[in-house]
Amino acid sequence: MSERERADLTMAMVHSGETVDLSAIEGVKVDKHSTGGVGDTTTLVLAPLVASLGVPVAKMSGRGLGHTGGTIDKLESISGFHTDIGKEEFVRLVNRHRIAVIGQTGNLTPADKMLYALRDVTATVESIPLIASSIMSKKIAAGADAIVLDVKTGAGAFMKTAAEAEALARAMVGIGNKLGRKTMAVISDMSQPLGFAIGNALEVREAIETLQGRGPKDLVELCLALGSQMVYLAGKAASLEEAEAKLKEALAAGKALEKFKTFVANQGGDPAVADDPDRLPQAAYRIEVPAREDGVVAAMAADDIGHAAMLLGAGRATKESQIDLAVGLVLNKKVGDPVRAGESLVTIHANREAVDEVKDKLYASIRIAGQAEAPALIRGIVT
Ligand code: URA
Ligand code: CA
Repeated sequence: MSERERADLTMAMVHSGETVDLSAIEGVKVDKHSTGGVGDTTTLVLAPLVASLGVPVAKMSGRGLGHTGGTIDKLESISGFHTDIGKEEFVRLVNRHRIAVIGQTGNLTPADKMLYALRDVTATVESIPLIASSIMSKKIAAGADAIVLDVKTGAGAFMKTAAEAEALARAMVGIGNKLGRKTMAVISDMSQPLGFAIGNALEVREAIETLQGRGPKDLVELCLALGSQMVYLAGKAASLEEAEAKLKEALAAGKALEKFKTFVANQGGDPAVADDPDRLPQAAYRIEVPAREDGVVAAMAADDIGHAAMLLGAGRATKESQIDLAVGLVLNKKVGDPVRAGESLVTIHANREAVDEVKDKLYASIRIAGQAEAPALIRGIVT
């Protein structure tokens, strides 16, 4: 498909259903999209972080199927937090505080759902132009003026190789720019989970720790890369470098954490979690998974670790499944870390004692070798 055809298909899908009009919100509305990974806590960090620099974050979010719940499920682990705020209140909050999250409403891009079903039976699910137009149509229908994409690559991602991920990123950036929505992308590693926490309340805690300035190195690095593109595209910095310096300052000065508290309180939640994450729901049992040998962690397969979190009840297998917000996994080691036999590789947070199946899955997904190096997190930038 030519660039023209990709752009036309995207707009045909946008116009097949309702669209969201965010014109009542002042400023450039930049939306961030991730192609999906395991333990991806970036939205919870980025939303208050960029809002603290004046970037309007008008986030429409879903629950979704997966290893953990979606952004809304995660936020609902904060006591009282809700997203059924209504369109008017949503617009008022974003204009006044630069941040709000609302549940998905309206029938957006129905043609995308039909085309997806058709792709499923015609072996075209993996066609890059069709994936690119599918994703971009949903972002444009949801009202984005500019778009930042996190295209994941590796075992836990849809695109298994960095070359495929780059091709998808270039296709989406091409469509966005042709349609007058400035678009940039980061290609990031998803061979192992991002950060340490995988689970709903556990990821909220990880996001709070990151906003407090003590986040996992990889999560911080990715938030700075994606956040710089968001701040730059929103016109709040003259270059990506200047944007990154502003983000670091907002983190160090506690502005991002303050914005998180305001955001949580605005939507009925308990803002005290930001200073005391022990107020989040906690699982009844913590079970360690000790290394069986000395060595260096050589692999932590993101897809299998995500599946282990799902077995605990952290995610939904079907739309009707109930999720347990307290359960999940906390990695104590990442790829490249040395480990001694008996040291804990992972802490299981469970609401039942019998977790042998989860342990087996974890042992099968973690490889210990004589030597190994940490993989590079950022595999490419497309601007
Ligand atoms: N995600 C989408 O939204 N569409 C695709 O086609 C593939 C992944
Ligand atoms: Ca995480």
